[in-house]
Amino acid sequence: MSQGNNPIYNFAPGPAMLPESVKQQIIDDMPNWRGSGCSVMEVSHRGPLFRQLIKETDELIREILNVSDEYDILMTPGGARLQYSMMPMNFSSLTGKAMYFVHGHWGKSAILEAQKFCNARPLVPYNQNEIYSSIPKYDMSQLDSSFDYFHYTSNETLEGVEWQFIPENNDIPMFCDMTSNLMTREIDVNKYSLIYASAQKNLGIAGITIVIVKKEMLDKAPSNLPLMLDYRTYSKHDSLWNTPPTFPWYVMNLILNWIKNTGGLSAVEKRNYEKSAKLYEYIDNSQFYKNNVDMDCRSKVNVTFLLNDESLNEKFLSKAEEAGIKAIKGHRAVGGMRASIYNAMPMAGINALINFMKEFEKDYG
Ligand SMILES: Cc1ncc(COP(=O)(O)O)c(C=O)c1O
Repeated sequence: MSQGNNPIYNFAPGPAMLPESVKQQIIDDMPNWRGSGCSVMEVSHRGPLFRQLIKETDELIREILNVSDEYDILMTPGGARLQYSMMPMNFSSLTGKAMYFVHGHWGKSAILEAQKFCNARPLVPYNQNEIYSSIPKYDMSQLDSSFDYFHYTSNETLEGVEWQFIPENNDIPMFCDMTSNLMTREIDVNKYSLIYASAQKNLGIAGITIVIVKKEMLDKAPSNLPLMLDYRTYSKHDSLWNTPPTFPWYVMNLILNWIKNTGGLSAVEKRNYEKSAKLYEYIDNSQFYKNNVDMDCRSKVNVTFLLNDESLNEKFLSKAEEAGIKAIKGHRAVGGMRASIYNAMPMAGINALINFMKEFEKDYG
């Protein structure tokens, strides 16, 4: 994207920027998708062309993330938030117990929703108003076989606090909200019983959510769930029980091909490491900006930072906008600034942001 002669970089947390080549492909495909004579939005989700796209998408996810046949890959509507309800509805009960690890905004939302359906407990007590800058110390010995599952958020998008390792789970099924970092780094899927991520950050556009679930879990669900809230409906019908979000599914397919063709997850992880390291290094060496997150859990994809003089925030944001640095404002629950630098953000965007921050410091420092 550009503004006059200047490129524009979109640091939005989601919906987030897409790779330029993917946007171009969407434009090219629009009049005549795969020889259908119309756009992908106009073909039947049950027809052979869309069926082929579904098959390819499943195969690409399995290949990129190394997902075995022990797992189903489901596509659901309702965003990550619908998963907050579906997980306890399917896998716990009013008399059941689930353990939640809370270290940020999304973890708090997940446990609050689960508490409507089961006895969901926080592993570490939390305060609704706390703004996290680290992963709290915990004692996993509380997680015993009386719990139906253990849930955590691998990257807290608002605070920019990310687990750099997979926690132990004491053989209790482990569920993870990977909405902001699925496909941004290599992971061992086999450690999990359920992983989910809505698409609008690293997997395309809003409207569709990937759920990777161990098939053996599905037998545990009660039989009287509403069909659209029962994972087995998606599993039995290839996620085609109702008319699915076909366009987001198609964009996801393009994104997965882009990941594969740009080197797969190890290359993606390396690029994300380099981009975030450069930005953190600049912030850490500055007297004008600061990041409060502990070094060992800083997010590689959501870099939060504050101006030492917060009275300059509005000026910073308006000057950033003029310089083509878009959507850098932190979430209202956290304040400050946040650069969301998901897979599609090139190093040139990081350089442009750092240059702008330097200029701003020169003018207002
Ligand atoms: C970690 C995480 N979980 C859940 C959500 C909510 O996702 P959705 O709006 O798709 O329900 C978000 C959105 O930003 C997120 O970052």
